[in-house]
Amino acid sequence: MTSLLTLDGLCKAYGAVKVADELSYDVTTGDALGVIGPNGAGKTSMFNLITGTVSPDSGTVTFAGQNVTGWSAAKRSHFGIARSFQVPQPFSNMTVFENAMVAATQSAGLYGREAEALCLDVLEKTELLSKANTPAGGLTLLGRKRLELTRALCAKPKLLLLDEIAGGLTEGECQSLVQTIKDIHASGVTIIWIEHVVHALLAVVDRLIVIDFGRKIAEGEPKAIMESPEVKEIYLGIEADA
Ligand SMILES: Nc1ncnc2c1ncn2[C@@H]1O[C@H](COP(=O)(O)OP(=O)(O)OP(=O)(O)O)[C@@H](O)[C@H]1O
Ligand SMILES: [Mg+2]
Repeated sequence: MTSLLTLDGLCKAYGAVKVADELSYDVTTGDALGVIGPNGAGKTSMFNLITGTVSPDSGTVTFAGQNVTGWSAAKRSHFGIARSFQVPQPFSNMTVFENAMVAATQSAGLYGREAEALCLDVLEKTELLSKANTPAGGLTLLGRKRLELTRALCAKPKLLLLDEIAGGLTEGECQSLVQTIKDIHASGVTIIWIEHVVHALLAVVDRLIVIDFGRKIAEGEPKAIMESPEVKEIYLGIEADA
Protein backbone atom coordinates (compact mmCIF):
# COMPACT_ATOMS: atom_id res chain seq x y z
CA MET A 1 0.00 0.00 0.00
CA THR A 2 1.26 3.45 -0.86
CA SER A 3 1.27 6.47 1.39
CA LEU A 4 -1.47 8.93 0.42
CA LEU A 5 -0.90 11.67 2.99
CA THR A 6 2.11 12.49 5.11
CA LEU A 7 2.27 15.24 7.70
CA ASP A 8 5.88 15.88 8.65
CA GLY A 9 6.73 18.11 11.60
CA LEU A 10 3.77 20.46 11.11
CA CYS A 11 3.81 23.46 13.45
CA LYS A 12 1.26 26.24 13.68
CA ALA A 13 0.61 28.72 16.47
CA TYR A 14 -1.85 31.55 16.97
CA GLY A 15 0.10 33.74 19.37
CA ALA A 16 0.79 31.56 22.39
CA VAL A 17 -1.73 28.88 21.32
CA LYS A 18 -0.05 25.96 19.55
CA VAL A 19 -2.60 24.22 17.32
CA ALA A 20 -0.02 21.97 15.64
CA ASP A 21 3.17 21.02 17.46
CA GLU A 22 5.57 18.85 15.46
CA LEU A 23 2.59 16.94 14.10
CA SER A 24 3.64 13.95 11.99
CA TYR A 25 1.78 10.92 10.70
CA ASP A 26 1.17 8.87 7.61
CA VAL A 27 -2.09 7.84 5.98
CA THR A 28 -2.02 4.93 3.56
CA THR A 29 -4.44 4.61 0.66
CA GLY A 30 -7.53 2.81 1.95
CA ASP A 31 -7.02 3.79 5.60
CA ALA A 32 -9.82 4.94 7.89
CA LEU A 33 -8.05 7.01 10.53
CA GLY A 34 -9.89 8.38 13.55
CA VAL A 35 -8.83 11.53 15.38
CA ILE A 36 -9.85 12.36 18.93
CA GLY A 37 -8.81 14.99 21.44
CA PRO A 38 -10.27 17.61 23.78
CA ASN A 39 -12.02 20.78 22.62
CA GLY A 40 -9.48 23.28 21.32
CA ALA A 41 -6.77 20.61 20.85
CA GLY A 42 -6.16 21.62 17.24
CA LYS A 43 -8.12 18.96 15.38
CA THR A 44 -10.02 21.28 13.01
CA SER A 45 -6.82 23.33 12.62
CA MET A 46 -5.11 20.13 11.44
CA PHE A 47 -7.77 19.79 8.70
CA ASN A 48 -7.22 23.46 7.79
CA LEU A 49 -3.51 22.68 7.36
CA ILE A 50 -4.25 19.59 5.25
CA THR A 51 -6.78 21.36 3.01
CA GLY A 52 -4.67 24.49 2.69
CA THR A 53 -6.96 27.14 4.17
CA VAL A 54 -4.20 27.71 6.74
CA SER A 55 -0.42 27.62 6.13
CA PRO A 56 1.91 26.01 8.67
CA ASP A 57 4.69 27.95 10.37
CA SER A 58 6.93 24.99 9.53
CA GLY A 59 6.68 21.38 8.38
CA THR A 60 5.27 19.81 5.25
CA VAL A 61 2.11 18.21 3.88
CA THR A 62 2.70 15.59 1.19
CA PHE A 63 -0.33 14.27 -0.71
CA ALA A 64 -0.34 11.65 -3.46
CA GLY A 65 3.40 11.99 -3.85
CA GLN A 66 3.44 15.80 -4.14
CA ASN A 67 4.63 18.32 -1.57
CA VAL A 68 1.42 20.38 -1.45
CA THR A 69 2.45 22.62 1.47
CA GLY A 70 2.53 25.75 -0.69
CA TRP A 71 -0.57 24.86 -2.73
CA SER A 72 -3.84 26.79 -2.50
CA ALA A 73 -6.94 25.13 -1.04
CA ALA A 74 -8.55 25.11 -4.51
CA LYS A 75 -5.60 23.30 -6.07
CA ARG A 76 -5.57 20.71 -3.27
CA SER A 77 -9.31 20.21 -3.72
CA HIS A 78 -8.86 19.56 -7.46
CA PHE A 79 -6.06 17.13 -6.56
CA GLY A 80 -8.38 15.02 -4.39
CA ILE A 81 -8.72 16.41 -0.84
CA ALA A 82 -12.27 17.12 0.34
CA ARG A 83 -13.76 17.88 3.73
CA SER A 84 -17.01 18.20 5.60
CA PHE A 85 -17.27 21.13 7.99
CA GLN A 86 -17.90 20.87 11.73
CA VAL A 87 -20.75 23.36 11.27
CA PRO A 88 -22.57 22.46 8.01
CA GLN A 89 -22.09 25.22 5.46
CA PRO A 90 -24.61 24.62 2.65
CA PHE A 91 -25.90 27.30 0.29
CA SER A 92 -29.23 27.45 2.13
CA ASN A 93 -31.29 29.03 -0.65
CA MET A 94 -30.15 26.50 -3.23
CA THR A 95 -31.59 23.00 -3.50
CA VAL A 96 -29.73 19.90 -2.38
CA PHE A 97 -29.03 19.03 -6.04
CA GLU A 98 -27.75 22.53 -6.80
CA ASN A 99 -25.44 22.35 -3.79
CA ALA A 100 -24.08 19.06 -5.10
CA MET A 101 -23.63 20.57 -8.57
CA VAL A 102 -21.50 23.40 -7.16
CA ALA A 103 -19.06 20.83 -5.79
CA ALA A 104 -19.15 18.67 -8.94
CA THR A 105 -18.42 21.62 -11.21
CA GLN A 106 -16.10 23.74 -9.07
CA SER A 107 -14.18 21.04 -7.18
CA ALA A 108 -14.32 18.02 -9.50
CA GLY A 109 -14.20 20.24 -12.61
CA LEU A 110 -17.07 18.42 -14.37
CA TYR A 111 -19.71 19.93 -16.65
CA GLY A 112 -23.22 19.22 -17.90
CA ARG A 113 -24.42 15.63 -17.93
CA GLU A 114 -21.23 14.25 -16.43
CA ALA A 115 -21.62 16.55 -13.41
CA GLU A 116 -25.32 15.72 -13.10
CA ALA A 117 -24.64 11.97 -13.26
CA LEU A 118 -22.03 12.24 -10.51
CA CYS A 119 -24.42 14.24 -8.31
CA LEU A 120 -27.23 11.72 -8.73
CA ASP A 121 -24.89 8.85 -7.98
CA VAL A 122 -23.55 10.55 -4.84
CA LEU A 123 -27.03 11.62 -3.67
CA GLU A 124 -28.13 8.02 -3.88
CA LYS A 125 -25.16 6.91 -1.78
CA THR A 126 -25.77 9.63 0.82
CA GLU A 127 -29.53 8.86 0.86
CA LEU A 128 -30.53 12.38 -0.18
CA LEU A 129 -31.90 11.56 -3.63
CA SER A 130 -35.49 12.00 -2.44
CA LYS A 131 -34.53 15.46 -1.14
CA ALA A 132 -32.77 16.56 -4.33
CA ASN A 133 -35.19 19.42 -4.97
CA THR A 134 -35.49 20.52 -1.33
CA PRO A 135 -33.86 23.83 -0.41
CA ALA A 136 -30.80 23.03 1.72
CA GLY A 137 -32.04 25.44 4.40
CA GLY A 138 -35.07 23.19 4.95
CA LEU A 139 -33.09 20.05 5.82
CA THR A 140 -32.96 18.50 9.29
CA LEU A 141 -29.59 18.33 11.06
CA LEU A 142 -29.07 14.78 9.72
CA GLY A 143 -29.97 16.05 6.25
CA ARG A 144 -27.45 18.89 6.55
CA LYS A 145 -24.78 16.41 7.69
CA ARG A 146 -25.62 14.18 4.72
CA LEU A 147 -25.38 17.21 2.44
CA GLU A 148 -21.90 17.95 3.82
CA LEU A 149 -20.97 14.40 2.86
CA THR A 150 -22.57 14.84 -0.55
CA ARG A 151 -20.71 18.05 -1.30
CA ALA A 152 -17.41 16.49 -0.26
CA LEU A 153 -18.01 13.35 -2.36
CA CYS A 154 -19.03 15.40 -5.41
CA ALA A 155 -15.45 16.70 -5.42
CA LYS A 156 -14.42 13.09 -6.24
CA PRO A 157 -11.94 12.92 -3.39
CA LYS A 158 -9.14 10.44 -2.84
CA LEU A 159 -9.06 11.67 0.76
CA LEU A 160 -12.21 12.56 2.69
CA LEU A 161 -11.86 14.59 5.89
CA LEU A 162 -14.86 14.41 8.23
CA ASP A 163 -15.06 16.95 11.06
CA GLU A 164 -17.46 15.87 13.81
CA ILE A 165 -20.11 14.78 11.37
CA ALA A 166 -21.93 12.65 14.00
CA GLY A 167 -22.27 15.43 16.58
CA GLY A 168 -25.80 16.36 17.68
CA LEU A 169 -27.56 13.38 16.08
CA THR A 170 -29.88 10.90 17.81
CA GLU A 171 -28.54 7.38 18.24
CA GLY A 172 -30.64 6.07 15.33
CA GLU A 173 -29.52 8.91 13.03
CA CYS A 174 -25.94 8.37 14.09
CA GLN A 175 -26.10 4.67 13.22
CA SER A 176 -27.54 5.35 9.78
CA LEU A 177 -24.80 7.91 9.09
CA VAL A 178 -22.14 5.46 10.30
CA GLN A 179 -23.43 2.89 7.78
CA THR A 180 -23.19 5.47 4.98
CA ILE A 181 -19.62 6.35 5.98
CA LYS A 182 -18.71 2.64 6.12
CA ASP A 183 -20.07 2.22 2.59
CA ILE A 184 -18.09 5.24 1.35
CA HIS A 185 -14.92 3.83 2.88
CA ALA A 186 -15.64 0.39 1.39
CA SER A 187 -15.96 2.02 -2.04
CA GLY A 188 -12.27 2.98 -1.84
CA VAL A 189 -12.22 6.46 -0.32
CA THR A 190 -9.50 7.05 2.29
CA ILE A 191 -10.92 8.72 5.38
CA ILE A 192 -9.69 10.82 8.29
CA TRP A 193 -12.51 11.36 10.76
CA ILE A 194 -12.41 13.74 13.74
CA GLU A 195 -15.16 12.79 16.17
CA HIS A 196 -16.21 13.23 19.79
CA VAL A 197 -18.91 10.55 19.41
CA VAL A 198 -16.34 7.83 19.99
CA HIS A 199 -18.59 4.79 19.58
CA ALA A 200 -19.54 5.99 16.08
CA LEU A 201 -15.90 6.53 15.23
CA LEU A 202 -14.81 3.14 16.50
CA ALA A 203 -17.42 1.45 14.29
CA VAL A 204 -15.52 2.67 11.23
CA VAL A 205 -11.85 3.45 11.84
CA ASP A 206 -8.99 0.97 11.97
CA ARG A 207 -6.47 3.34 13.59
CA LEU A 208 -6.75 6.19 16.04
CA ILE A 209 -4.62 9.20 16.84
CA VAL A 210 -5.05 11.43 19.87
CA ILE A 211 -4.24 15.12 19.73
CA ASP A 212 -3.78 17.42 22.70
CA PHE A 213 -2.38 20.95 22.53
CA GLY A 214 -1.53 20.36 18.87
CA ARG A 215 0.63 17.35 19.72
CA LYS A 216 0.01 13.75 18.72
CA ILE A 217 0.08 12.01 22.09
CA ALA A 218 -0.97 8.53 20.98
CA GLU A 219 -1.44 6.52 17.81
CA GLY A 220 -2.46 2.92 17.21
CA GLU A 221 -5.17 0.29 17.31
CA PRO A 222 -8.39 2.00 18.49
CA LYS A 223 -9.27 -0.24 21.44
CA ALA A 224 -5.76 -0.18 22.86
CA ILE A 225 -5.63 3.62 22.50
CA MET A 226 -8.99 4.13 24.23
CA GLU A 227 -7.84 1.92 27.11
CA SER A 228 -4.54 3.73 27.68
CA PRO A 229 -4.45 5.65 30.99
CA GLU A 230 -3.30 8.88 29.30
CA VAL A 231 -6.26 8.90 26.94
CA LYS A 232 -8.71 7.89 29.65
CA GLU A 233 -7.56 10.84 31.71
CA ILE A 234 -8.05 13.28 28.84
CA TYR A 235 -11.44 11.81 28.02
CA LEU A 236 -12.71 11.59 31.56
CA GLY A 237 -16.10 13.20 31.48
CA ILE A 238 -16.15 13.73 27.72
CA GLU A 239 -17.59 10.42 26.53
CA ALA A 240 -18.89 8.09 29.16
CA ASP A 241 -19.56 5.21 26.74
CA ALA A 242 -16.03 5.17 25.31
N1 LIG B 1 -7.76 31.61 13.13
C1 LIG B 1 -7.52 31.49 14.45
N2 LIG B 1 -7.03 32.53 15.17
C2 LIG B 1 -6.77 32.41 16.48
N3 LIG B 1 -6.97 31.29 17.19
C3 LIG B 1 -7.48 30.23 16.53
C4 LIG B 1 -7.77 30.27 15.14
N4 LIG B 1 -8.27 29.05 14.77
C5 LIG B 1 -8.27 28.30 15.88
N5 LIG B 1 -7.81 29.00 16.93
C6 LIG B 1 -7.67 28.49 18.30
O1 LIG B 1 -6.86 27.33 18.22
C7 LIG B 1 -7.29 26.33 19.15
C8 LIG B 1 -7.59 25.05 18.41
O2 LIG B 1 -8.80 25.22 17.64
P1 LIG B 1 -9.43 24.03 16.78
O3 LIG B 1 -10.68 24.58 16.19
O4 LIG B 1 -8.41 23.49 15.87
O5 LIG B 1 -9.75 22.98 17.92
P2 LIG B 1 -10.51 21.60 17.83
O6 LIG B 1 -9.60 20.55 18.35
O7 LIG B 1 -11.09 21.40 16.50
O8 LIG B 1 -11.69 21.82 18.92
P3 LIG B 1 -13.22 21.30 18.93
O9 LIG B 1 -13.18 19.89 19.43
O10 LIG B 1 -13.88 22.20 19.93
O11 LIG B 1 -13.79 21.45 17.56
C9 LIG B 1 -8.49 26.94 19.88
O12 LIG B 1 -8.02 27.49 21.09
C10 LIG B 1 -8.98 28.03 18.93
O13 LIG B 1 -9.61 29.07 19.63
MG1 LIG C 1 -12.99 21.27 15.74
